[in-house]
Amino acid sequence: MRFVYVMDPISRVIPHKDTTFAFQRAAQARGHVALHCEPKDLYVLEGKAFARCRPLRVSEDLPYFDFGDYEDHRLADIDAVFIRKDPPFDQAYLYATLVLENVRGETLIVNDPRGLRDANEKLYAMHFPELTPKTLVTSDRDRIFAFVKDVGGKGVIKPLDGAGGSGVMMLRQDDTNARSIVDTLTGEGSRIAMVQEFLPLVTKGDKRVLLLEGKILGAINRVPRKDDIRSNIHVGGSVEPTEVTPRERQIVATIAPRLLRDGLFFVGLDVIGERLTEVNVTSPTGIQELSHHLGRDVAADVIAWAETKATGFEKR
Ligand SMILES: Nc1ncnc2c1ncn2[C@@H]1O[C@H](COP(=O)(O)OP(=O)(O)O)[C@@H](O)[C@H]1O
Ligand SMILES: [Mg+2]
Repeated sequence: MRFVYVMDPISRVIPHKDTTFAFQRAAQARGHVALHCEPKDLYVLEGKAFARCRPLRVSEDLPYFDFGDYEDHRLADIDAVFIRKDPPFDQAYLYATLVLENVRGETLIVNDPRGLRDANEKLYAMHFPELTPKTLVTSDRDRIFAFVKDVGGKGVIKPLDGAGGSGVMMLRQDDTNARSIVDTLTGEGSRIAMVQEFLPLVTKGDKRVLLLEGKILGAINRVPRKDDIRSNIHVGGSVEPTEVTPRERQIVATIAPRLLRDGLFFVGLDVIGERLTEVNVTSPTGIQELSHHLGRDVAADVIAWAETKATGFEKR
């Protein structure tokens, strides 16, 4: 099969950490062709979507990547498209999802472009308030201070378009920086931001539960440094093996139908103290760490799934 990966430039890829690399390695081992492009390389000609891309071979050792020459491919002829561009969700990303609408129903797209547009990673969890910590989304600074007081004087504030822990800050009622933090995150009351009750259990970790078509692939736990609340690997969180608890299985069972309806196949839930905080859909990661803990390549499961799923599309 031929798989197109719409992603960042290859210089951004960390071979022994990134989930996209694991997908490409597993797919290559199963005999598939990888075609690499960036969002800007997608185009539409006379109503048909194409990608200008390069065949890519990956290897375990330096230089890790070997590109062939540029080729133009009609996306309807491709078996699957993996959208693996890291956040932020910017205008180039938006246009990429709209171009991909052109091949809806003709090619497997992971994740569904409409689902990607609809699902802000932080706001999506708000469809399930019974599963999340107490949360407020607003630009109103007074409302934020009242909320923090309400939840016991300690909260966490986050930008809606952040990722990797960027801009996530502790918000304490008695902190003389609190007003400045809220001004910064809300653009002085002009932008909505998310405020949550502080979950003390975060010191035990933020669990990443990886899902494939609504089913659990496995989970890893990310424990923050002693001097930070953020557990993200990107900012120094450490990864440890973990199990999925019965309560976390309930969380998955509750949101899985919605994920399936939205075509969100490969998803990473963030769960702190058995409360859902985030639904990562744009380019969730964690497969290499999970594979390491389980002692087998979980990326191969995802590729095997894609092989089967891809055969269900009508090629015009
Ligand atoms: N309500 C909360 N209580 C305590 N810590 C939190 C809370 N929300 C987030 N955090 C910490 O901040 C980190 C980043 O927050 P998250 O919402 O996952 O945003 P990001 O998209 O940046 O990963 C989490 O991994 C966790 O360590
Ligand atoms: Mg997160």
